[in-house]
Amino acid sequence: MELEQPDPLRAGHRRRILITGSGGQLGRALQREFAADDLVALSHKEWDVADPPNSLLQGRFDLVLHAAAWTDVDGAEADPQGAAAVNIGGTANVASLGSPLVVFSTDYVFDGRKREPYVESDGPNPLSAYGRTKLQGEAAAGAEAWIVRTSWLFGSTGRNFVRTMLRLGAEREEVAVVDDQRGCPTYVGHLAHAVRELVDTDRPRGVWHLAAEGDCTWADFAEAVLSEAGLDCRVRRVSTEELGRPAPRPAYAVLRSERAGAPTLPHWREGLRACLAALGEG
Ligand SMILES: NC(=O)c1ccc[n+]([C@@H]2O[C@H](COP(=O)([O-])OP(=O)(O)OC[C@H]3O[C@@H](n4cnc5c(N)ncnc54)[C@H](OP(=O)(O)O)[C@@H]3O)[C@@H](O)[C@H]2O)c1
Repeated sequence: MELEQPDPLRAGHRRRILITGSGGQLGRALQREFAADDLVALSHKEWDVADPPNSLLQGRFDLVLHAAAWTDVDGAEADPQGAAAVNIGGTANVASLGSPLVVFSTDYVFDGRKREPYVESDGPNPLSAYGRTKLQGEAAAGAEAWIVRTSWLFGSTGRNFVRTMLRLGAEREEVAVVDDQRGCPTYVGHLAHAVRELVDTDRPRGVWHLAAEGDCTWADFAEAVLSEAGLDCRVRRVSTEELGRPAPRPAYAVLRSERAGAPTLPHWREGLRACLAALGEG
């Protein structure tokens, strides 16, 4: 199928852009970032991407930002077919629209055995059902898509680690958080901005690693959240094994780009401050 290339000169003009999963944390950040464009933002209710495109999807799109996904990592172990229907079948349905496409993938496509950052040419080897469906979803997106791998997303809406820590930190004196998984907590607002840079400058298609600068463990991140928010709650550092979650997760999942012209994101601490500021405004 011949795909139309977006004209970078049109960036800044009103493009007709479809956003799937518009109710999710990234879907909302993308709506804010691309607000100057003509957006068709569809929630899960408006288009279940596991179903073929429906009547809300008339006409051509200059760009599709596919933010819908099955993101319940532990739930995917119990229902791998359900996760596959959304993350593989859903991505194939979105790709069938034939428009320039950005899909989102994850650090969980890697097994975490490395001890230096994962770059685009590193071989994936997912440990979990979720990671396997996301990797196959990359293939379903086709060779003409931008595949943006990112990690540990958080924002001022939806269910995420920062919001959970703020809630627990207000209720408890101590929280147990894993200290043997390392990654890059990435603020959705910063990711959305980097995605706009990627498409507005019409960077080559294929896999791009876009994650926040810096890295830490979940326990480090929890301490930063609690201290930035001024909450008097201790972090008890525990192992992944101690927590006993159903899905295996990579111990080391730091993503960096080796590609020329890759957009860079601010440090995760800056992302955390931006998120807390947005929560304060909301
Ligand atoms: N969260 C992370 O830490 C992380 C890390 C790396 C990569 N990613 C990737 O980044 C992307 C965005 O994730 P996110 O953090 O924004 O996730 P999110 O907040 O869970 O949002 C996902 C959205 O997709 C919707 N959705 C689920 N199943 C759907 C379906 N069958 N049809 C249409 N919509 C459906 C959800 O709606 P309901 O809530 O109504 O089901 C939700 O609004 C995903 O591709 C994810 O895999 C996420």
